[in-house]
Amino acid sequence: MSTIETQRKLEVCFTPALLPNYEIDGKIVVVIDVFRATTAIITGMQYGVKEIIPVKDIEDAFEYKHRGFITAAERKGEVVEGFDFGNSPFAFMDENLRGETIVLTTTNCTTAMLQVKHANKTFLGAFINITAVAEQLNRESDDVILLCAGWKNKFSIEDALFAGALAERLLNKFNFTTDCDSTIAAHTIYLAAKTDIPAYLKQSSHRKRLGHLNLERDIEYCLKKDQATVVPQFDGYSIKLVEVEVVG
Ligand code: MLT
Repeated sequence: MSTIETQRKLEVCFTPALLPNYEIDGKIVVVIDVFRATTAIITGMQYGVKEIIPVKDIEDAFEYKHRGFITAAERKGEVVEGFDFGNSPFAFMDENLRGETIVLTTTNCTTAMLQVKHANKTFLGAFINITAVAEQLNRESDDVILLCAGWKNKFSIEDALFAGALAERLLNKFNFTTDCDSTIAAHTIYLAAKTDIPAYLKQSSHRKRLGHLNLERDIEYCLKKDQATVVPQFDGYSIKLVEVEVVG
């Protein structure tokens, strides 16, 4: 039977700018970028992409491109000229990417990931793998920080909302506890939104930005739960699938 003593701590960090206030060492971090980087990466892994190397700058990505890598780059929601594709989850559903390594740079998410290199483990979460990521966290034993990628170090409501949805599962179903006000706030946002998440997010700034770029199909897909069963893990250099231990 679980006791208070064995409960694992859950925290939410609303933007990468707040990370210096968190103790990352020895913790598991879940990086969240619902619109759209973590959704796109999870989709790629679900469709058989072998490895994704996140890089911070366009220049770094270009270097990989010149070395023959498949490269994807997004800025302001758009594909950066000269790259193979951007950050749309639909671009990652390509059969030709099966078994391949992709180099990716995005406005916020790839930088956020690189900032938590020193975490004990780093997983990627979004609505499309919410059950898989909750179960993966339940199999682990360290305390957890949910890191919202946000937008240029500002708060993003869709990432907070997902953090709240995941927090609800971890706190209600698994052996987690929290004394973190950001977790409570994220959960409160989720409770207010959960009956109609697309309607709740109508005012979200990045949702509007993507809407202006005619990316409604991406938005709709990013908000669907459990489209994927995989959990990508960043090891400080690249993202691969979590290795599931086979017992017996
Ligand atoms: C990011 O990393 O900032 C986002 O995923 C941007 C996007 O996909 O539009």
